Amino acid sequence: MKLARPIALLPLTSLALTDVNSPTRPITLSKTGGFQIGGKTISSPLNTNQTLSCDHGYMEYFIPWRPRRTSVVMWHSSSTQVWQNRWNGGEGYKDMFLRRDYPVYLWDGPRVGRANWACETTTYVPSHQDQANFGAWNFGPRWPVWWDDVQFPTRDEAAWKHATSARYVEYDTKANVELQSDAAAIAADSGKIGTDIVYLTNSAGGLRAMMTATKANGTNIKGIVTYESIGYVFPDNVNITAGRGGFGPFIVPLERFKKLAKLTAIQFVWGDHRSENFTSVIESRLAAKLINQYGGNAQVLKLSEDAGLKGSTHIPFADMDNAKVAALLDDLLEDNALDEYKDGEAWI
Ligand SMILES: *[C@@H]1O[C@H](CO)[C@@H](O)[C@H](O)[C@H]1NC(C)=O
Ligand SMILES: *[C@@H]1O[C@H](CO)[C@@H](O)[C@H](O)[C@H]1NC(C)=O
Ligand SMILES: *[C@@H]1O[C@H](CO)[C@@H](O)[C@H](O)[C@H]1NC(C)=O
Ligand SMILES: *[C@@H]1O[C@H](CO)[C@@H](O)[C@H](O)[C@H]1NC(C)=O
Repeated sequence: MKLARPIALLPLTSLALTDVNSPTRPITLSKTGGFQIGGKTISSPLNTNQTLSCDHGYMEYFIPWRPRRTSVVMWHSSSTQVWQNRWNGGEGYKDMFLRRDYPVYLWDGPRVGRANWACETTTYVPSHQDQANFGAWNFGPRWPVWWDDVQFPTRDEAAWKHATSARYVEYDTKANVELQSDAAAIAADSGKIGTDIVYLTNSAGGLRAMMTATKANGTNIKGIVTYESIGYVFPDNVNITAGRGGFGPFIVPLERFKKLAKLTAIQFVWGDHRSENFTSVIESRLAAKLINQYGGNAQVLKLSEDAGLKGSTHIPFADMDNAKVAALLDDLLEDNALDEYKDGEAWI
């Protein structure tokens, strides 16, 4: 029996319900769930019969009733929470892109969030870093001074507490970049997250998604949109020295770097108050130039200078004007034909 499409059940008189960007358009899902992927099984040195399956990633998925072709994989650096809600608890990217009929995936790489079953000993040391988060997330020049135009509900003390307490333990090491991108490349090649993947990343997730694209062997990865990526990947034929820590630069063989040029679109997005001489901005421009030199389609987008959005933080998709930030992503997806429906029909 052919199931009726849910649109048939909706009052067609309401324009809001059919406008894909309307915040009141219902979210209609065919399924949700999650799975572990990648990782390994190790044996106890004391008794090889005793094993531990560990270092996998965890992928949670939400599939719309009538999905578009592109799977949107949201890759955090600090917490999946940043993809779920705006700073004031309003609508975040997860619901926005489900409302637009994109399959949405929330990814916890090995060792973070719901993939914290590690193969090695890990330690947690309380770091007293709330005030450092404030600066790192570019809420202001320094704690407790907000940028005048910041897109954060500055008078809402609960919002600040919520933002800083949502963090997970993270591992900004070279080894973790390799570990997380290994698992993500297996996930990408597996087909379990679709055949048209666009990664949306924040902060150190950007470097990991770039590394993933240089490791995957299939053609499922179609795009990467990084929000405030700290750390970039470069080819080994230019005079760039690898960084020693977890924020790059990462140097890969030219043949692997060229895989980035095969992607349909790459966009390195910057929030506001980011000077051109900020190391990561310089690196983003150089990485885009090199990707394009090999036939790719990469660009840098500064939300303030290029799009007129003032006061964006390090996590612009959770900012108070995140609907405007999302509209720019709509443009990128549309311009690159990454917004098509699986059945090829336009939504009414
Ligand atoms: C491991 O399993 C094998 C096969 O079941 C058994 O012969 C062996 O005694 C076990 N070793 C230990 C240390 O339990
Ligand atoms: C891609 O292929 C290379 C060479 O065969 C292999 O070493 C690597 O593990 C593959 N990557 C993935 C994600 O399977
Ligand atoms: C490569 O970079 C290093 C450090 O910036 C510099 O000392 C060296 O002269 C450069 N080599 C070439 C061939 O450009
Ligand atoms: C970076 O640029 C800003 C202006 O955009 C300037 O005030 C600052 O001095 C510059 N810093 C360095 C290290 O050049």
